[in-house]
Amino acid sequence: MKIKKAIFPVGGLGTRFLPATKSMPKEMLPIVDKPLIQYAVEEAANAGIEQFIFVTSRGKSSIENHFDHSYELENNLLLKGKKDTLKTAQEMLKIPGSFAYVRQQEPAGLGHAVWCARHLIGEEPVAVILADDLIKGSNTIKEMIDNYKSGNMLAIMDVEKKDVSSYGIITPGKFLENNITEILGLIEKPSIENAPSNMAVVGRYIIEPAIFKELEKQNRGASNEIQLTDAIANRIGETDCSGYKFKEERFDCGSKLGFIQANIKLSLESTEMNKELKTWLKKEFFDGRF
Ligand code: G1P
Repeated sequence: MKIKKAIFPVGGLGTRFLPATKSMPKEMLPIVDKPLIQYAVEEAANAGIEQFIFVTSRGKSSIENHFDHSYELENNLLLKGKKDTLKTAQEMLKIPGSFAYVRQQEPAGLGHAVWCARHLIGEEPVAVILADDLIKGSNTIKEMIDNYKSGNMLAIMDVEKKDVSSYGIITPGKFLENNITEILGLIEKPSIENAPSNMAVVGRYIIEPAIFKELEKQNRGASNEIQLTDAIANRIGETDCSGYKFKEERFDCGSKLGFIQANIKLSLESTEMNKELKTWLKKEFFDGRF
């Protein structure tokens, strides 16, 4: 099934990254030299998404600027003949009108953010991508779209039991095909005792339009927020719900540790830095071995 739209909820306050995120969106934090949100948009574009819908909030205008021209910069690079750098600066300019922005006026949860985009979505399934879940390879949402048939599909991964309370956790059902598992139940941020498994939801979803009607009820769940997990859980039994177990490595870039790990991993993979960084790491931390 062709999915043309993706929602990027970017309205969060980023409190885990203060003071860095006091006046700067956490989605603009760079992994090597690219902001998190650009990785998310590139993953969506790679999956054939044509309309990019951002749910923003106050103080997030640098995200809009990032996906627009910067005439002063571009002109300067042009005059200096820096063609490659100019190309990098223009990389994220899509077809005019393919980016849309809607404001979430209060931080009332992920479900509330997604619901804020309702008027921009018709009677069609839509992708939802959380930029702070960085998944290597830029292919996960494409694989999900390729395997999607109906209902709701969520990216899933195994997490350590001690971490279940940071995630939406699924009750797995039958294993279907191509890394897809039926989902029988979903619970947002359960205690270790109440967690039905250690299989967690990661920030890639394909949701059906009926989810907006669920979110319309404005029911509050975990952390007194309107949870996307709860809306999807309410649809189980009415429609299909499945989990896609992606293969690539995922970094929780909403946490300092995950953010640093992503930076180290991707820096070590960058041809520009690989050699010198490895030499430095060896010398500094590993007694010459690495
Ligand atoms: C959100 C979702 C949660 C999911 C997680 C993945 O939580 O509500 O179900 O497991 O993203 O990163 P958040 O991290 O925004 O608290």
